[in-house]
Amino acid sequence: MTDHIPPVDAAAFRAAMRLPATAVTVIATGEGDARQGLTASAVCSLSDAPPMILACINRNSKVLPAIRANGCFSANFLTEAQSAVAARFAGMTKVYGAERFAGGAWSRLATGAPVLEDALSVFDCHLDCEHDSPTHAILIGRVAAIRQDDSARSLVYTSGTFSYPAALSA
Ligand SMILES: Cc1cc2nc3c(=O)[nH]c(=O)nc-3n(C[C@H](O)[C@H](O)[C@H](O)COP(=O)(O)O)c2cc1C
Repeated sequence: MTDHIPPVDAAAFRAAMRLPATAVTVIATGEGDARQGLTASAVCSLSDAPPMILACINRNSKVLPAIRANGCFSANFLTEAQSAVAARFAGMTKVYGAERFAGGAWSRLATGAPVLEDALSVFDCHLDCEHDSPTHAILIGRVAAIRQDDSARSLVYTSGTFSYPAALSA
């Protein structure tokens, strides 16, 4: 029945996938000059008991070996006021490594991973395990500490643009 459907190529996949709005996080790990972080939208809840999240990180990212070495990472969901942080950690301003952290105020909670002040929700995680895909590592994080700002609004990414849901702006 489905023989006539052509295979999905990468451009068609990207065109469809860029439409749905996603939350935007910064994944961060390390201390001082060894800090590493990147902007990631492939981050979501896995379970609430035990509290676990998953994050998909490109195999070429410098953040991945740092997370493995440290055994921990934070997932910092950004607010509408933090699109510049998102751009910085996505490499759009051509800064790398610890220099990316100059664009915000950072502290620590339970694991020692850097956590972003004024983020929407912060999940401070021990690295529980890792699964393989051809291009990305799927990291499972065991949540050791949480922080949130109930008064803030979520930054989202849709159609190649940082935005926030209009329904939340009323
Ligand atoms: C909105 C947005 C979402 C992204 N989501 C991811 C993601 O989920 N996983 C990932 O590995 N890279 C993601 N990226 C790309 C990384 O942020 C980017 O490649 C970054 O420069 C990687 O850092 P590195 O060069 O230090 O490894 C995303 C970029 C943007 C703009």
